[in-house]
Amino acid sequence: MSSLLVDDIGELVTNDPPGDEGGPLGIRRDAALLVEEGRVAWIGPSRDAPAADRRLDAGGAAVLPGFVDSHAHLVFAGDRAAEFAARMAGQPYTGGGIRTTVGATRAASDDELRATVRRLRGEAMRQGTTTMEIKSGYGLTIADEARSLAIAAEVSEETTFLGAHVVPAEYADRPDDYVGLVCGPMLAAAAPHARWIDVFCERGAFDVDHARAILACGQAVGLGVRVHANQLGPGPGVQLGVELGAASVDHCTHLTDADVDALASARYDCMCADGRHTTTVATLLPGAEFSTRSPYPDARRLLDAGVTVALATDCNPGSSYTSSMPFCVALAVREMRMTPAEAVWAATAGGARALRRDDVGVLRPGARADLMILDAPSHLHLAYRPGVPLIRQVLRNGVPQ
Ligand code: NIG
Ligand code: FE
Repeated sequence: MSSLLVDDIGELVTNDPPGDEGGPLGIRRDAALLVEEGRVAWIGPSRDAPAADRRLDAGGAAVLPGFVDSHAHLVFAGDRAAEFAARMAGQPYTGGGIRTTVGATRAASDDELRATVRRLRGEAMRQGTTTMEIKSGYGLTIADEARSLAIAAEVSEETTFLGAHVVPAEYADRPDDYVGLVCGPMLAAAAPHARWIDVFCERGAFDVDHARAILACGQAVGLGVRVHANQLGPGPGVQLGVELGAASVDHCTHLTDADVDALASARYDCMCADGRHTTTVATLLPGAEFSTRSPYPDARRLLDAGVTVALATDCNPGSSYTSSMPFCVALAVREMRMTPAEAVWAATAGGARALRRDDVGVLRPGARADLMILDAPSHLHLAYRPGVPLIRQVLRNGVPQ
């Protein structure tokens, strides 16, 4: 069994607070971390580090858990740069461009889609993302949704069936029939490749009754629930997510007090390793507000109410064509009044909660050895030095990427 010692870590973010020491990030100084068989085997002071087969010198830099990007749409063809330019010239974002990408995606070969997924997954990895959820949702036929998920599953175990992204043009005047297709043969073809089901519950996409029906069908075949909710305006998506015990409701840009209360009091029994409850996470996607020039979600209101918050990229060719979690952290701090510690937690441990995972987003014995070494002495630099490539090295399952 080969072991690897990462030592001379100036600041180690564990997200595993020993008492109140190190704050919510569980920061340890002058630390070392031993990796065995892809897992964290030991964490402690550098001076007490055990012997190992190999050594990786962090040179006094900061080491953090890899980012957990719990919301991305990587399976698509084409781009919508012109739509972005039009928005920056004053056009609003309506989600109408989704159908443009659906057309391009249907026309693409498997290898073209695979190349895009791998390119974007690699781009994210180089920016510290060691876990990345990937949705379908630009195929919207049985075959195109199934192949989108099969291609996504080649690079991620966190795959999400989003057949209910929009009603495709050929079903525009019979949305009930499309919901029947999604719940029936499309779900049957998609489910073997998916862990999650998601619906875009929004005016112009799916109303609450359709969304509830589709999510319930997914739950009935064992998929976990997530919802695109309250992005373009207030609506029922967040409370529907809580009603169904969703792992996450995503966007949360337009929330009422009742939405915030529902999230704050959401508690479910779970089979978590720590044997405690779980909740519905509010996953905020500031890349979407940036790229659609929309008001940012009110992260402070959610945090102050006790809601668990995650940050994710929403990487997609329409509303947020970024794969960069450091960019999202910087936006959350500057534009959403999250502290750097809150934003780093939300982008790592928060993302893990949004995927109901306790083996990633945290560095403690038994967790996956998914981590990044920064070219910086502290996690603060992720927001303090926006736009700078600060990720020096990424390990996934203990393996340098
Ligand atoms: O999460 N809101 C719905 N879906 C994507 C956008 C998709 C697109 O514009 O292509 C989102 O922002
Ligand atoms: Fe999305």
